Amino acid sequence: MGENPTDLQSGRSNSSPLKQLATVIALRCVECASLYPGVSEHPRYRCDCGGVLDVEAKIHHPLQQGSTLQAGFETLATSKSEVKPFAGAHWRQLFEERASQSPTWPVNVVTQLPDSSGVWRYRELILPIPEQYIVSRPEGNTGLYPVGRENCGNHRAGHRQIGHYAGLDYLFLKHEGENPTGSFKDRGMTVGVTMANLLGARAVACASTGNTSASLASYAAQLGLPGIVFLPSTHVAAGKLAQSLAYGATTVQIEGDFDDAMRLVEQVCNELGIYLLNSLNPFRIEGQKAIGFELLQQLDWEAPDWLVLPAGNLGNTSAIGKAFRQAYQVGLIAHMPRIGAIQASGANPFFRSFLNGFVSREHVQAQTIATAIKIGDPVSYSRARQVIEESNGVVEEVSDEEILAAKSVIDRSGIGCEPASAATLAGARKLVERGIIKREERVVGILTGNLLKDSQTGIPQPKQGDAITASIEAVRRALANKISF
Ligand code: F0G
Repeated sequence: MGENPTDLQSGRSNSSPLKQLATVIALRCVECASLYPGVSEHPRYRCDCGGVLDVEAKIHHPLQQGSTLQAGFETLATSKSEVKPFAGAHWRQLFEERASQSPTWPVNVVTQLPDSSGVWRYRELILPIPEQYIVSRPEGNTGLYPVGRENCGNHRAGHRQIGHYAGLDYLFLKHEGENPTGSFKDRGMTVGVTMANLLGARAVACASTGNTSASLASYAAQLGLPGIVFLPSTHVAAGKLAQSLAYGATTVQIEGDFDDAMRLVEQVCNELGIYLLNSLNPFRIEGQKAIGFELLQQLDWEAPDWLVLPAGNLGNTSAIGKAFRQAYQVGLIAHMPRIGAIQASGANPFFRSFLNGFVSREHVQAQTIATAIKIGDPVSYSRARQVIEESNGVVEEVSDEEILAAKSVIDRSGIGCEPASAATLAGARKLVERGIIKREERVVGILTGNLLKDSQTGIPQPKQGDAITASIEAVRRALANKISF
């Protein structure tokens, strides 16, 4: 079964950052609980049993000081039932101080960069790593828009339409499309590429429906490392493909779907010793936890009742659920929100498994206009199942028509998002209609990607012959037809 995680621990006082990191992190199989070293020369992405791995870290409590790396560290439990909450005041104080840094990050002041990042601000809960290895844009610091019928402030009549559509009084949308490459993937990628840096990787690779590849291409380019991305040859939004090509990643288009590309990239990375940066890589999940920490901080650590998000490969469901568990465990929040994971009905294997009480793991041949979540065999199934079960969460499905209708409400409010993100609003509305989410409950929905990622799907396209002559008379006529003052 698992290797002895102490193999790499012998050099506790050794200065090698890899050896130091190995003293505080290990990898635990989500299926059979085998334990592996957290870092090793040959990166491991799966357990011998085939299960996916989860980072288990000893967390350094901000109050406790110690001369050795081991001093003051505590291992967090892997499930909510083992939780032993203790005062979160010191954590809150630490994160508040860091968040009070100027949002315009200072150049030339390397040590302040991590505090400006919405990921590395929470570094004790993400990855305890020497700061000089961090590869950051910085990322995060995304908006949390109050859009409910009651919590939408003045001058936001457009935004309030979203609350009306969902039927919710207290709804917030966290727009992860405001990250540097336009999706939430940057939060996992900064940690993944930082690990690649620390490990001295020769190249990094991923399979993608478009956003992971755009993010990998950007962060690999920043570090000066070759990036390789595997994409389905069809159904990748043009904006995402353009990003990968523009950032200079080697782009391999596969005649197949995401699930084929995922299978192949895992094999090729193991064969050629390329560092794999899909969310199969557990350090990506650690970075994406920051979405959860940041939104909790924006809510002044008052946990919402629900967190609703689109679900494809299930990395994000796993990550945000883990963040909530850890935030609860260190005393940052008083209760864990329930998670609502929303799938497209043509790409709904997790929903099907949920319906059968997770008795069997389902697979489908995926088909949906929301190409980002067109995934039939999600890699993080077991991690996400744990999150749904322990948060008393639900999995819901929404049709393409429901996704497009919700997208048009978000777009017309002035906020905008890519199609997969709109599954959040479509799913929240459905869960309210079904009486699962109550109208007065506080709900945070995640918008995962920027409107500009996909400029076609669900967006009215200009028609040929729409242009008018460049004269004031023609402008008056055109406006008279379109607007009544
Ligand atoms: N929303 C967007 C915009 C995405 O790009 C993805 C996943 C998801 C939701 C689903 O998140 O996979 O963690 O459940 N995109 C991956 C990619 C698969 O390759 O960019 P998940």
